Amino acid sequence: MMDGSTQVHVRNAALVADALAGLTADAKTLSPKWLYDHHGSALFEEITRLPEYYPTRTEAGILHANADALAGLVPQGGALVELGSGASVKTRTLLDASGHMGAYVPIDISRDFLFETAEGLRATYPALDIVPVVADFTAPVSLPAALTELPKVAFFPGSTIGNLTPEGAQALLSGVRAWAGIEAFILGADMVKDTQTLVAAYDDAQGVTAEFITNILRRLNREAEADFDLAAFDYRATWNAALTRIDMELVSNRDQRVRVAGHSIDFAAGEPIHISAARKYTPDSLAALAGAAGWDVRHRHVDAAERFSVAVLTPKA
Ligand code: AVJ
Repeated sequence: MMDGSTQVHVRNAALVADALAGLTADAKTLSPKWLYDHHGSALFEEITRLPEYYPTRTEAGILHANADALAGLVPQGGALVELGSGASVKTRTLLDASGHMGAYVPIDISRDFLFETAEGLRATYPALDIVPVVADFTAPVSLPAALTELPKVAFFPGSTIGNLTPEGAQALLSGVRAWAGIEAFILGADMVKDTQTLVAAYDDAQGVTAEFITNILRRLNREAEADFDLAAFDYRATWNAALTRIDMELVSNRDQRVRVAGHSIDFAAGEPIHISAARKYTPDSLAALAGAAGWDVRHRHVDAAERFSVAVLTPKA
């Protein structure tokens, strides 16, 4: 830790298994979910404030400008259900605009953080039923039985949909479409734009994103008995036009052998580890994704430059 305090780290069995599977594959990969340890989460917060990283502030502006219309999608007494709620910062914009909702259901995998956030929300919105659900939204989510009867609107901001594979994104949209009482889905999606703007958002001048992605190796050293030399890997962000996505990779800058939990992993100079992909959408590709999962795009709220969309999906007629 930065303050020099001692932290005890236990070997993380799930991380070890996942890392060994990814690093022994022909094309080496690590899952982006391991980026978000305490330090990684703080670095991502820093990313959201970088001049180059436009998505967070652009989406926040769209939510503010359309808060009444978006909050108004939730019927009287109904529930707003958020996937991957984190600190629920953006959601407050919708909750502030709504005096009529019955429940807010934040879903997140990080239990302590979720319950802490729920307490804070209860203090601000005493009339609202806050029902936190600990779940990984990339797997089918089952909601508490008490919510079955309530009309619901799902909320998935941040363009986090773009970090899923196309199949994963479609499975998530289909899963939510099957919820009892679902009436709409408010979906944040970053749009395809000029390559320079996209690459800069994922390779900032201050190097915060490089630090964020490289932190995954630091975590492996700590929690997976690895001995990565952080200076032997360079961060690279590239635009993949065919797949309309940014790829975030760490590239070995020399031939080297690394130990991970007792296994040897060989890297050739120039060999990449793929860490994360951020898919970007066009109005058509977004409609196709939604349509394949049983949704119509009823409206797309956008910023003036149409960098980002907050789409309102409704069940196909
Ligand atoms: C939080 C997953 C939406 O892909 O834009 C930002 C993560 N990674 N810079 C994104 C991220 C590097 C971010 N998401």
